[in-house]
Amino acid sequence: MTFNILISDPLSEEGIYPLRQSAELNIVIDTTNTPEELVSKIGDFDALLVRSQTQVTRELIEKATNLKMIGRAGVGVDNIDLDAATEHGIIVVNAPDGNTNSAAEHTMAMLMSLARKIPQAFNSLKNQQWDRKSFIGVELKNKTLGIVGLGRIGAEVAHRAKGQRMNVIAYDPFLTEEKAKKLGIDFGSVEDVLKVSDFITVHTPLLKETRHLINKKAFEMMKDGVRIINCARGGIIDEDALYDAIVSKKVAGAALDVFEEEPFVDHKLLTLPEVIATPHLGASTIEAQESVAVDVSVDVVNFFNGGAVQNP
Ligand code: NAD
Ligand code: MLT
Repeated sequence: MTFNILISDPLSEEGIYPLRQSAELNIVIDTTNTPEELVSKIGDFDALLVRSQTQVTRELIEKATNLKMIGRAGVGVDNIDLDAATEHGIIVVNAPDGNTNSAAEHTMAMLMSLARKIPQAFNSLKNQQWDRKSFIGVELKNKTLGIVGLGRIGAEVAHRAKGQRMNVIAYDPFLTEEKAKKLGIDFGSVEDVLKVSDFITVHTPLLKETRHLINKKAFEMMKDGVRIINCARGGIIDEDALYDAIVSKKVAGAALDVFEEEPFVDHKLLTLPEVIATPHLGASTIEAQESVAVDVSVDVVNFFNGGAVQNP
């Protein structure tokens, strides 16, 4: 029996090697579909593999009459309608570990770029300005980094921030102080973290409970001149509230990898010189892409051979 596997977002070719090795799997790579095209084709497929771009909606799932499995080559499953998948008996697997390191490294790169205004200075130099006055930064040493969400990536960021000799405090309602102690960092309520931090980085999933967790009220609690980093999910931070907090100088700057609406070409936050940004590149390394693609590919191969999957 042959199973048809559709890959609808770009995945690492090395990473999908296990799929290519499997004689009973027919692999179709088609990453240019509009949502309507995808809906019209999905009925032919037994499995769908995505990153974050493809929106696996209820409408798509309802047309997916042969679909048995959705594989997410990455962590966040907020682009997949999990309720609809469950109702239709479709198993959803993700790759929760493969991009942790890359996402933590990207967070540190954004934090340091924000502190030293590296993107702004580079732009100025490209525009033939030798300007040493406009780009005075701040040091990280002895500053406090607040981490909201001390999971895989949050914990890796904590390690790295300690290496920069920062003080670190974290908030996570599902973890005990024990984990923070093991990492050698402080643990507090969300209010504690907001009040004492010079830099705040969020590392939660996007859930009903975390949507706009960092909102107008949260910004009001923060220190004047706080700097914000979001390499987790757009929507955890209320973008309108962030815009107002930067304009009012409450927030000195923000480094954003993720946005409430993606993709976009124009964004009002990017009109502010205090904002630096990347287009959702946290997991975009050769290593992470290979690793997440291998993880979901192995799950697909095992599943269609009647075996167990690792990350349902
Ligand atoms: P994880 O599940 O290991 O950690 C998430 C943590 O958030 C958990 O410890 C959980 O207890 C905590 N949490 C849940 N609700 C919370 C709340 N209300 N307040 C505070 N903490 C809360 O996930 P992870 O692998 O560390 O990923 C973190 C985020 O980063 C996810 O949103 C993921 O999608 C995103 N991510 C983004 C990129 C990127 O390319 N920018 C790459 C990888 C992961
Ligand atoms: C993830 O949740 O794993 C990230 O957003 C990375 C990605 O999808 O590329």
